[in-house]
Amino acid sequence: MKKVKPEDLRSHRWFGRETMRSFNHRSRMAQLGVQESDYRGKPIIAILNTWSEINPCHQHFRQRAEEVKRGVWQAGGFPVEMPAMSIAEIFQKPSPLMYRNFLAMEAEELLRSYPVDGAVLMGGCDKTTPGLAMGAISMGLPFIFMPAGPMLRGNASGATLGSGTDMFKGWSELRAGTIDQQQWEDLLQGIARSPGTCMTMGTAATMMSAVEALGLTLPGASSIPAPDSRHAQMATATGKRIVEMVWEDLRPAQILTDDAFDNAVTTVLALGGSTNALVHLIALARRAGAKLDLDRFDELARATPLLANIRPAGKYLMEDFYYAGGLRAMMERIRVKLHANTMTVNGRTLGENIEGARVFNDDVILPLDKALLQEGSLAVLRGNLCPDGAVIKPAASEPRLHRHQGRAVVFRDYHDLSARIDDPNLDVDEDSVLVLQNAGPLGGPGMPEWGQLPIPKKLLQKGVRDMLRISDARMSGTSFGACVLHVAPESFVGGPLALVRDGDLIELDIPARKLSLLISDPEMAARRAAWKAPEPRYKRGYGAIFTQNVTQANEGCDFAVLADRSQIPEPDIF
Ligand code: FES
Repeated sequence: MKKVKPEDLRSHRWFGRETMRSFNHRSRMAQLGVQESDYRGKPIIAILNTWSEINPCHQHFRQRAEEVKRGVWQAGGFPVEMPAMSIAEIFQKPSPLMYRNFLAMEAEELLRSYPVDGAVLMGGCDKTTPGLAMGAISMGLPFIFMPAGPMLRGNASGATLGSGTDMFKGWSELRAGTIDQQQWEDLLQGIARSPGTCMTMGTAATMMSAVEALGLTLPGASSIPAPDSRHAQMATATGKRIVEMVWEDLRPAQILTDDAFDNAVTTVLALGGSTNALVHLIALARRAGAKLDLDRFDELARATPLLANIRPAGKYLMEDFYYAGGLRAMMERIRVKLHANTMTVNGRTLGENIEGARVFNDDVILPLDKALLQEGSLAVLRGNLCPDGAVIKPAASEPRLHRHQGRAVVFRDYHDLSARIDDPNLDVDEDSVLVLQNAGPLGGPGMPEWGQLPIPKKLLQKGVRDMLRISDARMSGTSFGACVLHVAPESFVGGPLALVRDGDLIELDIPARKLSLLISDPEMAARRAAWKAPEPRYKRGYGAIFTQNVTQANEGCDFAVLADRSQIPEPDIF
């Protein structure tokens, strides 16, 4: 149903008026080799492409952009591919999270400052999904997210390998001396063997699934493996649909309700998704003006079974998940937990989109009565060590540590940790609690994924594979272990984590959602009074902008100035 007329299009302001400036714009379109009939009076669709030669997860995006364009042309739109920052999770330092807000700004301002009527966002590698979506939500134009899709299963030495998860396991085994250098080399060659994102339930698969559950992708899009021919078909369908969305004026504000965010959280929990989802979904919700906080996460976690039997919590990989029916089938299985009447980009409700979706393998997408966990795949903790919250993924940790008390072994930063963790004289045993300070949003900076602190070598050799670990860092969704993450406020700004000393008793009680430093209040106050703030990490450049604006983990680590929902007027064109 067309609501918008050609003269209502945003791009009409650039091209449709009889002014000297409009003439100038059209003359430069002619310079680009296009005729006025190609674009005038038609929806101009920006294809924000986060392709880069150093992003292996997006290496198919040049081809996919062509397939999106094919769809836009067929539907009577005019496609314009625009490069946007490619955040390659694996390579970008000190932490890709620092650049998520950079990409969000770039996406928003590209859409605002150019003659664009609608957008296709091409992302998938961890931070690219929230980064692009945050910017596009703030701009408010019709958009569809086109997920990169997971890579194929890894394979080496006769074993199926999962991104991250099997590297972390292999590294522990190499250090314990149970695998040799050749097996380690074989793992390097076979663990990432096609285009696409990490294929465990890491942050990429989690966030691509989350935006589908929000209603921002075509139904089923997030589960399709990147090299599958159906992925190319989905790209073309996305291009066709965005043109219709512009005519229908279907905007993110109509899609991103409180219920839609509940759906995304519930879906992430049923998937056993990455803890990074807490940071990103809170940031997205704040951009959209929806209600979502850590307490809501925990409330939904207590009511959501873990059904996706995917590593690191389970056994399979995203390729298996797709063949088993993919996200639509899993959401159909938890339909009673979802708000089925939320709107999605194809103009239908979520309930309509998942109707009749079938599970083809009950061992990959488990039935409700055989869930890996009946509830609590993520848990939000509170206590005097994390007054503004912290998170743990009980599903990926040894149950003996779910209620645990132990003495702290404190590392003041990651340099200190690397220097001492394997020291044979380190005073540590399997009941100790490893504590890493200064790894949060400002301390890291950018909350690097250091939260899965390595087990000391001498304990690995004794067969220890999990310990309680606590930090203000994040953890890769592909990681596992009893790792308490996102402690807020962070130690770099004087949160209680900064005050922990070697030998302090720490108590974790996941069923009670408590994390406590067992020292007296006067002792805590004395340590606080003696604490000195460190020098900021950056004095200039983007690092300084980040330092001055970033919020804490429980607030989504967005820039306050970007999360602000005041209206920005359309640019003047004179
Ligand atoms: Fe790109 Fe994992 S490195 S998704």
